[in-house]
Amino acid sequence: MNRITLNDFVKANNADLGAPFQQLLLVIEKTAKIINDKLSRNGLIEEQGSSGDTNVYGEDVQKLDEYANKVFTDALLACPAVAGVGSEELAEPKISGHDGLYLITHDPLDGSSNIDTNLPIGTIFGVYPQNTSVLQKGNTLFASGYILYGPSMMLVYATTAGKVNGFTYDFQTNEFILSHPDIKIGEKKIYSINEGNWELFSESDKNYLTAIKKEGGYSLRYVGSMVADIHRTLLKGGIFLYPADSKHPEGKLRLLYEVAPLSFLIIQAGGDGVSRGVNPLDIMPSKHDQRVPIALGSKVEIEKYSSFQKSNPILDTFKVI
Ligand code: AHG
Ligand code: MN
Ligand code: MN
Repeated sequence: MNRITLNDFVKANNADLGAPFQQLLLVIEKTAKIINDKLSRNGLIEEQGSSGDTNVYGEDVQKLDEYANKVFTDALLACPAVAGVGSEELAEPKISGHDGLYLITHDPLDGSSNIDTNLPIGTIFGVYPQNTSVLQKGNTLFASGYILYGPSMMLVYATTAGKVNGFTYDFQTNEFILSHPDIKIGEKKIYSINEGNWELFSESDKNYLTAIKKEGGYSLRYVGSMVADIHRTLLKGGIFLYPADSKHPEGKLRLLYEVAPLSFLIIQAGGDGVSRGVNPLDIMPSKHDQRVPIALGSKVEIEKYSSFQKSNPILDTFKVI
């Protein structure tokens, strides 16, 4: 097998983005290995369980959330290509002090409720142009990607013009090797949603879910780590949903750190996304911690889901509890 390393691949295929992008991916690669090393000893290490703090969303922060946030944020701030970094675990973005080309947003550890049970978790990143703020629409992204800490570690990233490539970490050589070239979203019928929230869902979401079950042929898969659920959706197909509901009237997932980067990636792979009737990449964030409802998947599944949504999404309400 012709082994193409991530570094060689970026040099050969992203020459248009220049040396800063190569520098950035080298930093992300290096940091992924450091975080993976820590996670692979999960269960044996002291950095487990709650840190005792809550983040800006009022969520319990795990010690490994804090660890991953510090490692990833510090490494990015030290990279000359990076002007600033926003993170799900930081109330405000940090400025690097050098005149880098990029602003990076990240969710350092996604799926943290799965840490204790050794299930797949991930890191998500978005690469925005330097600007006065990270409050930018997702359609300004240069690139985005994720690291999946699963049975093997994978790094998947997307750039514009429909390029999505996946690399698997070879722990024997300490290199990421191209294993999933030019990924196009799959065509299987899989839906992925926390259906335990059924009673909280809007009527149109209930109607949609009832209809696809009646139609038949669908499997339900839900890990509860967005990176893992999106990775499966990317490779196999289907739809991933975290809608607004009566407990989460704005949805649960964060626009800057989760939704925009993963929407960009799914769309570059030939899929589609919708948030209250609009393309998630067209939403202008009004604040760093903005949450939005989201459905991401293959074009045919997003079209089907959209056909059940009320033409005026504001009317599609539920009783907020
Ligand atoms: P995080 O661990 O970064 O806070 O993200 C958790 C998110 C996301 O990974 C997942 O899709 C979703 O929460 C699951 O939420 P439910 O437990 O409500 O299904
Ligand atoms: Mn997350
Ligand atoms: Mn997180």
